[in-house]
Amino acid sequence: MKILVLADIHANSFALGAIRESFDACLFLGDLVEYGVDPIPCINWIKTYATAAVRGNHDHSVAQRVPPSAGGGLRQLAGATRRLHWNLLRPAHFKYLSQLPVTQNLILDGFRFYLVHATPRDPMDEYLAADADAWRGRLENVEADFICAGHTHIPFHLDLGDCQVLNPGSVGQPRDGDPRASYAIIENGQVQLKRIEYDIDATVRQLQQSGLEPELIELAASTLQSGGRHHS
Ligand SMILES: [Fe+2]
Repeated sequence: MKILVLADIHANSFALGAIRESFDACLFLGDLVEYGVDPIPCINWIKTYATAAVRGNHDHSVAQRVPPSAGGGLRQLAGATRRLHWNLLRPAHFKYLSQLPVTQNLILDGFRFYLVHATPRDPMDEYLAADADAWRGRLENVEADFICAGHTHIPFHLDLGDCQVLNPGSVGQPRDGDPRASYAIIENGQVQLKRIEYDIDATVRQLQQSGLEPELIELAASTLQSGGRHHS
């Protein structure tokens, strides 16, 4: 069985569209929206093809109409794209984002999966890197063979012995210095972290046509073009 694992698409439909893997199941780990300006195809794709999906902090902010917070940089970009999304999305989209569960357990191919956007301690907001001891501490009460999480936009795979922790990285806004779309495949229990080039210029043109302020377009473009190196 071939399982496609995706996270942090962030309204980047060109990055999502570049992933042309066949799959028997698809797991989505949250953050369909914000930072990019083309959320509808991303929501529709996950709604159609994901076997299971969880809610990210950005999905939550859009769906629950959380007022954009003060602060510059990527936070300001998130707030500005959230306002654009509020005009663009229809009730069915808000309903889909708001009903996404915060965690999910499921069995696929004989393996127990636990899905969460960030960590079991703080399911939508905690940033936890590829630190085996820290992850062991978070997993005392989680029973699963594969723990799949996103949120950091940096891919990793940790084998903790009795379980494996997988972060597929970000489809639509990588932050590990590699601008290619990031995702993972689990095939017959074997994890592969993968990258694929996509048309970043097309995503930047969408940003330019969105009505965002020029300095936010510049920030979004440089983050995508550098793979987040300047902002991680
Ligand atoms: Fe994210």
